[in-house]
Amino acid sequence: MPPSARSRIRSLELPPFDPLNLRAAELRAAGHSVISLGQAVPFFEPPAAARAAAREALDRPEVHRYVTDPGLPSLRTILAERLGATMRTALTRDDLIITAGGNHAFTLALTTLVDAGDEVVLPAPYFTNHRMAVVAAGAAAIEAPVADRTTFAVRWSDVEPHLTPRTKAVVLCNPSNPTGAPVEAADGRLMVERLADRGVFVISDETYMQFVYEGAHWSAASVGGWRRNVVVVGTFSKAFGMMGWRVGYLLADADICQQAVKVQDAMIICAPAISQIAAEAAVRDCWSYPLSFHDELRARRDVLADGLARIPALHWTPTRGGLFAFVAVDGCDDSAALSRALLERAHVVTIPGISFGSSGEGYLRLSYGYADAAELAEAAGRLRAFFGSG
Ligand SMILES: Cc1ncc(COP(=O)(O)O)c(C=O)c1O
Repeated sequence: MPPSARSRIRSLELPPFDPLNLRAAELRAAGHSVISLGQAVPFFEPPAAARAAAREALDRPEVHRYVTDPGLPSLRTILAERLGATMRTALTRDDLIITAGGNHAFTLALTTLVDAGDEVVLPAPYFTNHRMAVVAAGAAAIEAPVADRTTFAVRWSDVEPHLTPRTKAVVLCNPSNPTGAPVEAADGRLMVERLADRGVFVISDETYMQFVYEGAHWSAASVGGWRRNVVVVGTFSKAFGMMGWRVGYLLADADICQQAVKVQDAMIICAPAISQIAAEAAVRDCWSYPLSFHDELRARRDVLADGLARIPALHWTPTRGGLFAFVAVDGCDDSAALSRALLERAHVVTIPGISFGSSGEGYLRLSYGYADAAELAEAAGRLRAFFGSG
Protein backbone atom coordinates (compact mmCIF):
# COMPACT_ATOMS: atom_id res chain seq x y z
CA MET A 1 0.00 0.00 0.00
CA PRO A 2 1.46 3.41 -0.91
CA PRO A 3 1.67 5.89 1.96
CA SER A 4 -1.18 8.33 2.19
CA ALA A 5 -1.86 11.75 3.65
CA ARG A 6 -3.31 11.47 7.13
CA SER A 7 -7.04 11.03 7.36
CA ARG A 8 -7.64 14.18 9.34
CA ILE A 9 -6.18 16.20 6.45
CA ARG A 10 -8.23 14.20 3.94
CA SER A 11 -11.33 15.09 5.93
CA LEU A 12 -10.74 18.82 5.38
CA GLU A 13 -12.39 20.63 2.54
CA LEU A 14 -11.03 23.73 0.90
CA PRO A 15 -13.39 26.69 1.11
CA PRO A 16 -15.20 27.26 -2.21
CA PHE A 17 -13.34 30.47 -3.13
CA ASP A 18 -11.30 29.04 -5.98
CA PRO A 19 -14.13 27.19 -7.75
CA LEU A 20 -16.39 30.25 -7.44
CA ASN A 21 -13.67 32.56 -8.75
CA LEU A 22 -12.83 30.19 -11.60
CA ARG A 23 -16.47 30.00 -12.64
CA ALA A 24 -16.72 33.79 -12.38
CA ALA A 25 -13.70 34.08 -14.72
CA GLU A 26 -15.37 31.70 -17.21
CA LEU A 27 -18.58 33.73 -17.14
CA ARG A 28 -16.61 36.94 -17.67
CA ALA A 29 -14.72 35.36 -20.58
CA ALA A 30 -18.12 34.50 -22.08
CA GLY A 31 -19.01 38.20 -21.99
CA HIS A 32 -21.04 38.43 -18.75
CA SER A 33 -20.54 41.18 -16.22
CA VAL A 34 -19.83 39.41 -12.94
CA ILE A 35 -19.68 41.30 -9.63
CA SER A 36 -17.60 39.70 -6.90
CA LEU A 37 -18.74 40.18 -3.32
CA GLY A 38 -16.68 37.16 -2.41
CA GLN A 39 -13.28 38.54 -1.60
CA ALA A 40 -12.23 39.32 1.97
CA VAL A 41 -9.92 42.07 0.78
CA PRO A 42 -9.96 45.87 0.81
CA PHE A 43 -9.91 47.87 -2.43
CA PHE A 44 -6.76 49.90 -1.70
CA GLU A 45 -3.12 49.24 -2.46
CA PRO A 46 -0.14 49.43 -0.08
CA PRO A 47 0.92 52.93 0.98
CA ALA A 48 3.45 54.59 -1.31
CA ALA A 49 6.07 54.62 1.47
CA ALA A 50 5.95 50.82 1.72
CA ARG A 51 6.36 50.35 -2.00
CA ALA A 52 9.20 52.88 -2.15
CA ALA A 53 11.01 51.18 0.73
CA ALA A 54 10.80 47.81 -1.01
CA ARG A 55 11.94 49.26 -4.34
CA GLU A 56 14.92 50.90 -2.71
CA ALA A 57 15.78 47.76 -0.71
CA LEU A 58 15.98 45.53 -3.77
CA ASP A 59 19.50 46.69 -4.51
CA ARG A 60 20.75 45.99 -0.98
CA PRO A 61 22.41 42.57 -0.64
CA GLU A 62 20.94 41.78 2.79
CA VAL A 63 17.42 41.76 1.42
CA HIS A 64 18.24 38.56 -0.46
CA ARG A 65 19.39 36.74 2.67
CA TYR A 66 17.70 35.36 5.78
CA VAL A 67 17.00 37.77 8.58
CA THR A 68 16.75 36.67 12.22
CA ASP A 69 14.00 34.15 12.95
CA PRO A 70 11.63 36.47 14.84
CA GLY A 71 11.98 39.24 12.29
CA LEU A 72 13.83 42.50 11.74
CA PRO A 73 14.55 44.03 15.16
CA SER A 74 13.76 47.51 13.81
CA LEU A 75 10.31 46.37 12.58
CA ARG A 76 9.57 44.58 15.83
CA THR A 77 10.59 47.63 17.86
CA ILE A 78 8.44 50.13 15.97
CA LEU A 79 5.53 47.67 15.75
CA ALA A 80 5.70 47.05 19.53
CA GLU A 81 5.56 50.81 20.06
CA ARG A 82 2.61 51.38 17.70
CA LEU A 83 0.60 48.33 18.84
CA GLY A 84 1.31 49.14 22.47
CA ALA A 85 -0.11 52.65 22.00
CA THR A 86 -3.13 51.35 20.04
CA MET A 87 -3.89 48.50 22.45
CA ARG A 88 -3.01 50.51 25.56
CA THR A 89 -0.47 48.04 26.88
CA ALA A 90 3.30 48.13 27.31
CA LEU A 91 5.02 45.98 24.70
CA THR A 92 8.59 45.33 23.66
CA ARG A 93 9.93 43.74 20.54
CA ASP A 94 10.42 40.50 22.50
CA ASP A 95 6.64 40.16 22.56
CA LEU A 96 6.46 39.96 18.76
CA ILE A 97 7.36 37.51 16.01
CA ILE A 98 7.02 38.65 12.42
CA THR A 99 5.31 35.91 10.41
CA ALA A 100 4.46 35.15 6.79
CA GLY A 101 0.94 36.56 7.25
CA GLY A 102 -1.89 36.19 9.71
CA ASN A 103 -2.71 32.60 8.84
CA HIS A 104 0.88 31.64 9.46
CA ALA A 105 0.80 33.43 12.81
CA PHE A 106 -2.32 31.43 13.70
CA THR A 107 -0.77 28.06 12.80
CA LEU A 108 2.41 29.09 14.61
CA ALA A 109 0.35 29.78 17.73
CA LEU A 110 -1.47 26.46 17.47
CA THR A 111 1.67 24.43 16.86
CA THR A 112 3.28 26.10 19.85
CA LEU A 113 0.36 25.80 22.27
CA VAL A 114 -1.82 22.85 21.36
CA ASP A 115 -1.28 19.11 21.78
CA ALA A 116 -2.96 16.42 19.69
CA GLY A 117 -6.25 15.57 21.38
CA ASP A 118 -6.72 19.01 22.93
CA GLU A 119 -9.93 20.87 22.25
CA VAL A 120 -10.04 24.33 20.70
CA VAL A 121 -13.32 26.22 20.91
CA LEU A 122 -14.36 28.24 17.86
CA PRO A 123 -17.26 30.64 18.37
CA ALA A 124 -19.29 30.14 15.22
CA PRO A 125 -19.74 31.13 12.48
CA TYR A 126 -15.94 30.90 12.44
CA PHE A 127 -13.21 31.79 9.95
CA THR A 128 -12.82 28.62 7.85
CA ASN A 129 -9.03 28.63 7.98
CA HIS A 130 -9.14 28.63 11.80
CA ARG A 131 -10.97 25.32 11.81
CA MET A 132 -8.71 23.87 9.15
CA ALA A 133 -5.61 24.83 11.14
CA VAL A 134 -7.01 23.36 14.38
CA VAL A 135 -7.80 20.05 12.69
CA ALA A 136 -4.43 20.00 10.93
CA ALA A 137 -2.77 20.47 14.33
CA GLY A 138 -4.49 17.30 15.56
CA ALA A 139 -6.79 19.08 17.99
CA ALA A 140 -10.58 18.86 18.08
CA ALA A 141 -12.36 21.94 16.72
CA ILE A 142 -15.41 22.58 18.90
CA GLU A 143 -18.05 24.76 17.26
CA ALA A 144 -19.67 27.14 19.75
CA PRO A 145 -22.63 28.81 18.00
CA VAL A 146 -23.07 32.47 18.84
CA ALA A 147 -26.53 32.98 20.32
CA ASP A 148 -27.10 36.61 19.31
CA ARG A 149 -28.04 36.33 15.66
CA THR A 150 -28.54 40.06 15.26
CA THR A 151 -25.20 41.48 16.35
CA PHE A 152 -23.25 38.19 16.26
CA ALA A 153 -21.34 39.44 19.33
CA VAL A 154 -19.48 36.57 21.06
CA ARG A 155 -20.22 36.30 24.76
CA TRP A 156 -19.01 34.20 27.67
CA SER A 157 -22.39 32.44 27.67
CA ASP A 158 -21.64 31.19 24.12
CA VAL A 159 -18.25 29.82 25.07
CA GLU A 160 -18.65 28.53 28.61
CA PRO A 161 -20.92 25.51 27.88
CA HIS A 162 -18.29 24.14 25.49
CA LEU A 163 -15.38 24.18 27.92
CA THR A 164 -14.11 20.82 29.17
CA PRO A 165 -10.98 19.76 31.04
CA ARG A 166 -9.44 19.21 27.58
CA THR A 167 -10.03 22.76 26.32
CA LYS A 168 -6.68 24.32 25.53
CA ALA A 169 -7.73 27.47 23.71
CA VAL A 170 -10.64 29.61 22.64
CA VAL A 171 -10.35 31.49 19.36
CA LEU A 172 -11.69 35.01 19.01
CA CYS A 173 -11.94 36.60 15.58
CA ASN A 174 -12.29 40.29 16.26
CA PRO A 175 -13.84 41.82 14.23
CA SER A 176 -15.16 38.60 12.81
CA ASN A 177 -14.73 37.14 9.42
CA PRO A 178 -17.47 36.24 8.36
CA THR A 179 -19.91 38.32 10.45
CA GLY A 180 -18.10 41.65 10.82
CA ALA A 181 -18.97 41.63 14.53
CA PRO A 182 -16.43 43.14 16.92
CA VAL A 183 -15.98 41.64 20.38
CA GLU A 184 -17.49 44.11 22.84
CA ALA A 185 -15.02 45.26 25.50
CA ALA A 186 -16.93 44.04 28.57
CA ASP A 187 -17.60 40.62 27.02
CA GLY A 188 -14.02 40.30 25.83
CA ARG A 189 -12.52 41.22 29.19
CA LEU A 190 -14.76 38.73 30.97
CA MET A 191 -13.79 35.94 28.57
CA VAL A 192 -10.05 36.63 28.83
CA GLU A 193 -10.18 36.76 32.63
CA ARG A 194 -12.38 33.70 33.16
CA LEU A 195 -10.37 31.66 30.66
CA ALA A 196 -7.12 32.69 32.37
CA ASP A 197 -8.54 31.43 35.66
CA ARG A 198 -9.24 28.08 33.99
CA GLY A 199 -5.81 27.87 32.36
CA VAL A 200 -7.18 28.29 28.82
CA PHE A 201 -5.49 30.34 26.11
CA VAL A 202 -7.28 32.98 24.06
CA ILE A 203 -5.99 33.13 20.50
CA SER A 204 -7.33 36.43 19.26
CA ASP A 205 -7.22 36.99 15.51
CA GLU A 206 -7.32 40.78 15.16
CA THR A 207 -6.72 40.86 11.41
CA TYR A 208 -9.51 43.45 11.01
CA MET A 209 -8.62 45.56 14.06
CA GLN A 210 -8.19 48.66 11.89
CA PHE A 211 -11.66 48.15 10.42
CA VAL A 212 -13.91 49.22 13.27
CA TYR A 213 -16.03 52.12 12.04
CA GLU A 214 -17.98 53.19 15.11
CA GLY A 215 -16.39 53.18 18.57
CA ALA A 216 -12.96 51.74 19.26
CA HIS A 217 -11.44 48.34 18.64
CA TRP A 218 -11.12 46.27 21.81
CA SER A 219 -7.98 44.13 21.84
CA ALA A 220 -7.53 41.03 23.97
CA ALA A 221 -4.06 42.41 24.75
CA SER A 222 -5.61 45.41 26.47
CA VAL A 223 -6.78 43.34 29.45
CA GLY A 224 -4.59 43.73 32.53
CA GLY A 225 -2.78 40.41 32.98
CA TRP A 226 -3.26 39.48 29.30
CA ARG A 227 0.22 37.94 29.25
CA ARG A 228 -1.06 34.96 31.22
CA ASN A 229 -3.15 33.55 28.38
CA VAL A 230 -3.53 35.82 25.34
CA VAL A 231 -1.91 35.42 21.94
CA VAL A 232 -2.86 37.97 19.29
CA VAL A 233 -2.65 37.28 15.57
CA GLY A 234 -2.24 40.28 13.27
CA THR A 235 -1.40 41.01 9.67
CA PHE A 236 -0.44 43.71 7.21
CA SER A 237 -2.56 42.01 4.52
CA LYS A 238 -5.79 43.90 4.99
CA ALA A 239 -4.89 47.09 6.84
CA PHE A 240 -2.17 48.01 4.37
CA GLY A 241 -3.47 46.24 1.26
CA MET A 242 -0.46 43.91 1.34
CA MET A 243 -2.07 40.49 0.86
CA GLY A 244 0.53 39.29 -1.60
CA TRP A 245 3.48 40.34 0.57
CA ARG A 246 2.75 37.62 3.12
CA VAL A 247 3.66 39.45 6.28
CA GLY A 248 1.94 39.50 9.65
CA TYR A 249 2.74 38.98 13.31
CA LEU A 250 2.15 37.01 16.46
CA LEU A 251 1.94 39.00 19.68
CA ALA A 252 2.37 37.16 22.97
CA ASP A 253 4.35 37.28 26.16
CA ALA A 254 8.09 37.01 25.48
CA ASP A 255 8.21 33.51 26.97
CA ILE A 256 5.66 32.18 24.47
CA CYS A 257 7.48 33.99 21.66
CA GLN A 258 10.71 32.26 22.69
CA GLN A 259 8.96 28.92 22.31
CA ALA A 260 7.16 29.85 19.08
CA VAL A 261 10.37 31.01 17.44
CA LYS A 262 11.61 27.41 17.42
CA VAL A 263 8.56 26.44 15.38
CA GLN A 264 9.09 29.49 13.19
CA ASP A 265 12.66 28.37 12.49
CA ALA A 266 11.49 24.87 11.55
CA MET A 267 8.62 26.16 9.40
CA ILE A 268 9.88 29.14 7.44
CA ILE A 269 13.07 30.41 9.19
CA CYS A 270 11.90 33.96 8.78
CA ALA A 271 9.24 36.01 7.02
CA PRO A 272 10.35 37.44 3.64
CA ALA A 273 12.94 40.17 4.21
CA ILE A 274 11.64 42.45 1.46
CA SER A 275 8.12 42.27 2.91
CA GLN A 276 9.38 43.12 6.38
CA ILE A 277 11.12 46.21 5.00
CA ALA A 278 7.93 47.33 3.27
CA ALA A 279 5.90 46.61 6.42
CA GLU A 280 8.32 48.62 8.55
CA ALA A 281 7.87 51.67 6.32
CA ALA A 282 4.09 51.25 6.56
CA VAL A 283 4.20 51.05 10.36
CA ARG A 284 6.69 53.89 10.80
CA ASP A 285 5.23 56.37 8.31
CA CYS A 286 1.61 55.35 7.74
CA TRP A 287 0.19 53.72 10.89
CA SER A 288 -3.14 55.49 10.44
CA TYR A 289 -3.32 54.66 6.70
CA PRO A 290 -6.23 52.17 7.04
CA LEU A 291 -8.26 54.68 9.04
CA SER A 292 -8.22 57.04 6.05
CA PHE A 293 -10.50 54.57 4.22
CA HIS A 294 -13.17 54.42 6.91
CA ASP A 295 -15.49 56.99 5.34
CA GLU A 296 -15.38 55.17 2.02
CA LEU A 297 -15.92 51.74 3.60
CA ARG A 298 -18.77 53.06 5.73
CA ALA A 299 -20.36 54.54 2.62
CA ARG A 300 -20.05 51.19 0.80
CA ARG A 301 -21.52 49.37 3.78
CA ASP A 302 -24.48 51.81 3.73
CA VAL A 303 -25.10 51.29 0.01
CA LEU A 304 -25.17 47.54 0.53
CA ALA A 305 -27.41 47.87 3.59
CA ASP A 306 -29.88 50.06 1.66
CA GLY A 307 -29.95 47.62 -1.23
CA LEU A 308 -30.45 44.57 0.97
CA ALA A 309 -33.15 46.29 3.02
CA ARG A 310 -35.32 46.28 -0.13
CA ILE A 311 -35.24 42.49 -0.39
CA PRO A 312 -37.78 40.93 1.99
CA ALA A 313 -36.10 37.50 1.88
CA LEU A 314 -32.76 38.84 3.14
CA HIS A 315 -31.95 40.04 6.65
CA TRP A 316 -28.86 41.87 7.80
CA THR A 317 -28.16 44.28 10.62
CA PRO A 318 -24.94 46.16 9.77
CA THR A 319 -22.12 45.61 12.23
CA ARG A 320 -19.51 48.07 13.48
CA GLY A 321 -16.57 46.43 11.80
CA GLY A 322 -14.96 44.15 9.27
CA LEU A 323 -15.64 44.09 5.55
CA PHE A 324 -18.65 41.79 5.58
CA ALA A 325 -22.40 41.43 5.57
CA PHE A 326 -23.50 38.07 6.94
CA VAL A 327 -26.98 37.85 5.51
CA ALA A 328 -29.76 35.49 6.61
CA VAL A 329 -31.79 34.12 3.71
CA ASP A 330 -35.40 33.10 4.33
CA GLY A 331 -36.00 29.42 3.68
CA CYS A 332 -32.41 28.64 2.75
CA ASP A 333 -31.08 25.27 3.88
CA ASP A 334 -28.37 24.85 1.22
CA SER A 335 -26.27 27.97 1.05
CA ALA A 336 -23.72 26.30 -1.23
CA ALA A 337 -26.38 25.62 -3.87
CA LEU A 338 -27.80 29.12 -3.42
CA SER A 339 -24.38 30.69 -3.89
CA ARG A 340 -23.84 28.68 -7.10
CA ALA A 341 -27.28 29.66 -8.40
CA LEU A 342 -26.58 33.33 -7.66
CA LEU A 343 -23.40 33.15 -9.66
CA GLU A 344 -25.03 31.37 -12.61
CA ARG A 345 -28.22 33.41 -12.77
CA ALA A 346 -27.43 36.78 -11.19
CA HIS A 347 -23.70 36.83 -11.90
CA VAL A 348 -22.86 37.81 -8.34
CA VAL A 349 -20.17 35.98 -6.35
CA THR A 350 -21.19 35.35 -2.73
CA ILE A 351 -19.75 32.96 -0.16
CA PRO A 352 -22.08 30.29 1.29
CA GLY A 353 -22.55 30.55 5.04
CA ILE A 354 -21.95 26.82 5.48
CA SER A 355 -18.26 27.51 4.74
CA PHE A 356 -18.11 29.08 8.20
CA GLY A 357 -19.53 26.15 10.12
CA SER A 358 -22.91 24.50 10.43
CA SER A 359 -24.21 27.51 12.34
CA GLY A 360 -23.59 29.56 9.18
CA GLU A 361 -26.01 27.48 7.11
CA GLY A 362 -28.86 29.57 5.75
CA TYR A 363 -26.61 32.63 5.37
CA LEU A 364 -24.48 34.24 2.67
CA ARG A 365 -21.35 36.30 3.27
CA LEU A 366 -21.14 39.40 1.11
CA SER A 367 -18.00 41.52 1.20
CA TYR A 368 -18.13 45.28 0.67
CA GLY A 369 -14.36 45.72 0.89
CA TYR A 370 -13.53 45.47 -2.78
CA ALA A 371 -16.62 46.25 -4.88
CA ASP A 372 -17.29 49.99 -5.20
CA ALA A 373 -20.59 51.71 -4.40
CA ALA A 374 -21.92 51.42 -7.97
CA GLU A 375 -21.13 47.70 -8.10
CA LEU A 376 -22.68 47.14 -4.68
CA ALA A 377 -25.88 48.90 -5.76
CA GLU A 378 -25.95 46.88 -9.00
CA ALA A 379 -25.29 43.62 -7.10
CA ALA A 380 -28.11 44.39 -4.66
CA GLY A 381 -30.41 45.05 -7.64
CA ARG A 382 -29.50 41.68 -9.13
CA LEU A 383 -30.14 39.95 -5.81
CA ARG A 384 -33.50 41.68 -5.63
CA ALA A 385 -34.45 40.38 -9.06
CA PHE A 386 -33.17 36.91 -8.15
CA PHE A 387 -35.23 36.74 -4.99
CA GLY A 388 -38.30 37.88 -6.89
CA SER A 389 -38.87 41.19 -5.17
CA GLY A 390 -37.92 43.59 -7.94
C1 LIG B 1 -9.78 36.57 10.11
C2 LIG B 1 -8.67 36.36 9.16
N1 LIG B 1 -7.48 35.97 9.64
C3 LIG B 1 -6.43 35.76 8.83
C4 LIG B 1 -6.55 35.95 7.46
C5 LIG B 1 -5.38 35.68 6.59
O1 LIG B 1 -4.58 36.80 6.50
P1 LIG B 1 -3.14 36.73 5.89
O2 LIG B 1 -3.25 37.16 4.46
O3 LIG B 1 -2.37 37.73 6.67
O4 LIG B 1 -2.63 35.35 6.05
C6 LIG B 1 -7.78 36.35 6.91
C7 LIG B 1 -7.95 36.51 5.45
O5 LIG B 1 -9.03 36.56 4.91
C8 LIG B 1 -8.85 36.57 7.78
O6 LIG B 1 -10.05 36.94 7.32
